[in-house]
Amino acid sequence: MRCLFATSLLVASLAGHVYGHALSDGTVSRRKSLGFGPVHPHEVYKSSPYQIQTNGFLPMGSHVEPFKVARAFLDDLLKDQLSSGNQYRIRKDSYTDKNTGVTHVYVRQVVNGLEVVDGDININIKDGMVLSYGNSFYTGATDIEQVAGPHDRHPHREYCQQLATEFEGRLAQVQQYAGAQMPMGSGQEHLDLVEPLAHIHSSNCLFTELPYEMPIKSQDDLDPRNALLQFMIAATPKSEVAQDILGNYDAHLGKISVSETNHFADPDSHVTFSLDNIPDTVNPVKAHLAHIQVPSKTGDSTELNLIWKFEVEMQDNWYEASVSAAAPHRIVSVVDWASDSPMPVHGQDSAHPLPSPSKLATYNVFGWGINDPSEGKRSIQKENLDSLASPIGWHSLPFVNDPAMQSVRFSKPTEFFRNTTSTWGNNVFAHENWEGQNGWVQNYRPDAGDSKAFDFKYKPKETNRSDALDEAKKYINATVTQLFYTSNMVHDLYYRYGFDEVSGNFQQYNFGRGGKENDAVIANAQDGSGYNNANFMTPPDGQNGRCRMYLWNTANPYRDGDLEAGIVIHELSHGLSTRLTGGPANSGCLGWGESGGMGEGWGDFLATVIRASGNYSDYAMGSWAANREQGIRNFIYSLNDTLNPSTYKTLDKPGYWGVHAIGEVWAEILWVALYELVEKYGWSETLFPPAPSEDGTIPEGDFYRKAEVDAFGKKKPLIPKHGNTLMVQLVFNGMKLQPCRPSFFDARDAIIQADQVLTGGENFCALWKGFAKRGLGPDARVEGRTPWGGGVRTNDYDVPRVCRD
Ligand SMILES: *[C@@H]1O[C@H](CO)[C@@H](O)[C@H](O)[C@H]1NC(C)=O
Ligand SMILES: *[C@@H]1O[C@H](CO)[C@@H](O)[C@H](O)[C@H]1NC(C)=O
Ligand SMILES: *[C@@H]1O[C@H](CO)[C@@H](O)[C@H](O)[C@H]1NC(C)=O
Ligand SMILES: *[C@@H]1O[C@H](CO)[C@@H](O)[C@H](O)[C@H]1NC(C)=O
Ligand SMILES: *[C@@H]1O[C@H](CO)[C@@H](O)[C@H](O)[C@H]1NC(C)=O
Repeated sequence: MRCLFATSLLVASLAGHVYGHALSDGTVSRRKSLGFGPVHPHEVYKSSPYQIQTNGFLPMGSHVEPFKVARAFLDDLLKDQLSSGNQYRIRKDSYTDKNTGVTHVYVRQVVNGLEVVDGDININIKDGMVLSYGNSFYTGATDIEQVAGPHDRHPHREYCQQLATEFEGRLAQVQQYAGAQMPMGSGQEHLDLVEPLAHIHSSNCLFTELPYEMPIKSQDDLDPRNALLQFMIAATPKSEVAQDILGNYDAHLGKISVSETNHFADPDSHVTFSLDNIPDTVNPVKAHLAHIQVPSKTGDSTELNLIWKFEVEMQDNWYEASVSAAAPHRIVSVVDWASDSPMPVHGQDSAHPLPSPSKLATYNVFGWGINDPSEGKRSIQKENLDSLASPIGWHSLPFVNDPAMQSVRFSKPTEFFRNTTSTWGNNVFAHENWEGQNGWVQNYRPDAGDSKAFDFKYKPKETNRSDALDEAKKYINATVTQLFYTSNMVHDLYYRYGFDEVSGNFQQYNFGRGGKENDAVIANAQDGSGYNNANFMTPPDGQNGRCRMYLWNTANPYRDGDLEAGIVIHELSHGLSTRLTGGPANSGCLGWGESGGMGEGWGDFLATVIRASGNYSDYAMGSWAANREQGIRNFIYSLNDTLNPSTYKTLDKPGYWGVHAIGEVWAEILWVALYELVEKYGWSETLFPPAPSEDGTIPEGDFYRKAEVDAFGKKKPLIPKHGNTLMVQLVFNGMKLQPCRPSFFDARDAIIQADQVLTGGENFCALWKGFAKRGLGPDARVEGRTPWGGGVRTNDYDVPRVCRD
């Protein structure tokens, strides 16, 4: 900590150096975000059905209902563990995938009546057979002393120590450069190297040794207020808020109101509390008592700690945090739902009859596939009415699901669906957010009137620096239109690859197809809370996702992130990966380390595969917005390992500590694997499957292989014909198969299993070859994982024996 002051000064002057001659007011905003949690040494993901069978669990026959299979499997798997104090609950957000027929069952451990927040099992079942499962259930004794346990581990402290070491290392690197002449354009890299760490470090870890450790004597003393205030000290990005809490601790404590929330309808939920008057939050905090696992002293198993689990919605973060109930200064784990995430078949709502589609809207935008303004011109594009993905188009939604129609709800409109002429619909609400505030319903959005022709001028001019922001704002109609168009295209595309209602997609109304509703994406254009970035918040299914796009002050005129499709796609893909991994109701599965990194990587991969064409090219992320040919990652995405040398072991390097750096390694690995499939099956110029026929069936077109029927006369899942479409499908299906908190190995194995399920394993060797090219072969290893994703890795460039020729 001793270098904090010097550090802050250096960072300030670096910022001055880089942006001193820049256009803007010099505002450089970086969101503070915490993410860490205990390692689970016993966590497994078994993706070989043969292995599962040799362990003694035999397939039950394809007629057996999948949830029955799940229960039988769980009772077998946990037979030595289950007791009156150690149980499980099958979550209601489990579902059956319509295309693959795989049922994804999500299970939560319950010990002595309280959930274990990291005790997760996911089981993938098809035709009576368990295909794969992940298991992180606590395996120790449950007759534990609940309150006065030995709280040896303190992940928050470990995290801060690691942060300090990392930070000092990078600082040394920067200081080396500081003497030398800085090459043009390199300032940003140096800033990237230290600034985010400095920010987290100074505002968070400074306070880890608090004078406010208050051991709790009995369970009656358990009080969520202490734990929450302690968490806020660490979480707030504003040092004045942290200081104020510290200085007026008892006053803050006294102001907090606690009320109990009852859930009559939802048996999945626990007794929860709602805490209000919490500094720096934007909504009351939800809290409930639970267990979490921390590594035991020997390191090979876990112990349970009693914690308060909080959901804390702040301006720039939406945290799911576990704070020790006995020692409230100990933050045990924290996941930021903001990223830089039903039983449909039974008892679903009956769908309301759909209106015949109204007149289609048109948009003057950079069309799908044009990544940014440097790649093409705007043209008039049509509302892409996909009768499967968006049955009522992009500009309709039921009155009852319309947040702007709260009062109308009670006056009972005669019509069910409301048609809009603005950027407001069932999948996306898009608008400006210049104030950078949380409110959004009343924000300005373009209205095209009855013509529904969203044709707005976009001609930003070079201005004086002080006018650059006003100049950018003049084109808000065009930018919001673009953001709305891109976001709806992403909704429809992802829908067709299986991100549908039951798997947790973002829609206000779900057409009676299951899943939770009232969670369209709130898309803020030109969000005033920052510059030169973008972010996405993914709460669990049934709560709106929130995408914030910023202006980039990297050029004159300013560049508008809304116009760079790759950035929008990257952000929306956080919603995809968070909802698909570990089930729609669990947004805590991609919080830090390798899993958090892959959350970034999938976004880069999808953004890149969407813009790519049959003529191979390398691509950089964010290069237009950042005004930098190399983009915003360390390397461009390339098959050439001189241009992109990333391998699995790259994660060991200094500077590969944050999720974005980890993510680009994962995206690169997927990029290389993609081209193994492209070599085999060629390239489809469109990623969009054909529109359904009148009778609802999906024609194969040139997109799918000719549909086959199985031995029982049942139609087999449709298989995309080309390499790029197949890879995207396998990546989506893999996300559904993989466990909560997946490692690179788990995600790789899930993709290989997705191919087994879809094609019968045709690409087993092609996929392994792709992964092995970047070190992720079958014998790749990691030793000594840490709460933030550290460890020592070994590459394996070999393929499995059966694939060697
Ligand atoms: C919305 O448009 C549809 C299709 O044109 C029409 O059937 C319906 O009546 C409209 N709804 C309202 C409330 O006007
Ligand atoms: C920029 O500012 C200068 C001095 O204030 C003024 O003379 C000039 O006209 C301005 N240029 C633009 C494009 O606004
Ligand atoms: C946006 O479009 C509306 C409606 O066509 C128009 O009245 C308004 O002036 C436009 N705003 C800007 C900033 O051009
Ligand atoms: C690929 O490049 C060739 C040669 O420039 C061009 O003729 C062809 O249209 C391109 N194909 C695609 C799919 O862009
Ligand atoms: C990879 O890129 C390097 C640097 O641009 C180049 O020298 C080399 O020829 C490339 N290798 C291949 C196989 O294209």
